[in-house]
Amino acid sequence: MRVDILTILPDLLEGPFSASILKRAQEKGLAEIHVHNIRDYSTNKQKSVDDYQYGGGAGMVMSIEPIALLIEKLQAERTYDEVIYMTPDGEVLDQRMSNTLSLCENIIILCGHYKGVDERVREMFITKEVSIGSYVLSGGELAAAVLTDSIIRLLPGVLNDETSALTDSFQDNLLSPPVYTRPPEYRGNKVPDVLLSGNFELIEKFREEKAYERTKLRRPDLLNNQDNF
Ligand code: 6GU
Repeated sequence: MRVDILTILPDLLEGPFSASILKRAQEKGLAEIHVHNIRDYSTNKQKSVDDYQYGGGAGMVMSIEPIALLIEKLQAERTYDEVIYMTPDGEVLDQRMSNTLSLCENIIILCGHYKGVDERVREMFITKEVSIGSYVLSGGELAAAVLTDSIIRLLPGVLNDETSALTDSFQDNLLSPPVYTRPPEYRGNKVPDVLLSGNFELIEKFREEKAYERTKLRRPDLLNNQDNF
């Protein structure tokens, strides 16, 4: 899978893709992540990427031209399944959306800033608008990193047995059960006996019960919403 991320702050996206699972996915050739600086496609002397909004009002608006030139350049090179715009007024990301997007071959992700992008960018180029939750971030970069991480980790071969996505919270509409490691007792606080019993049937039953209990307590909405995934 190839992900092209369009941003005016490429520095913000250097960290998240250069460590751990996302780094390994790229090294293994399972994912290609390309970060593009929209400013490189500005055609004026000042290399500006934003302008005052028509009609007045506080806040700058991202201009259409550099974004259009960059998207058109990429689309001339390959076909994209989706051109995604990260915006607080988009569809809220959930595991189902990540699962669906993980089937794509090529996607573009545009990071918004300031007051947003010129509405004509959305009309002319964007096929999907995504938010990562009901709060406001300074820009779409961190949201794009969240979306990219949630997609790439689902690609076949990215995770091994130890990190398998199949037992993730949410993948079956349940939160994950509690986990423990050594020591068996810490300041009088013991690991549940069943996990040390070696009885795998009982251990599996314990985990299922705990997952259900935790979901019921913390996220009852997941239990009521069987069509989440
Ligand atoms: Cl995608 N962008 C911004 N700026 N804020 C957000 C968001 C996106 N999702 C939640 N808050």
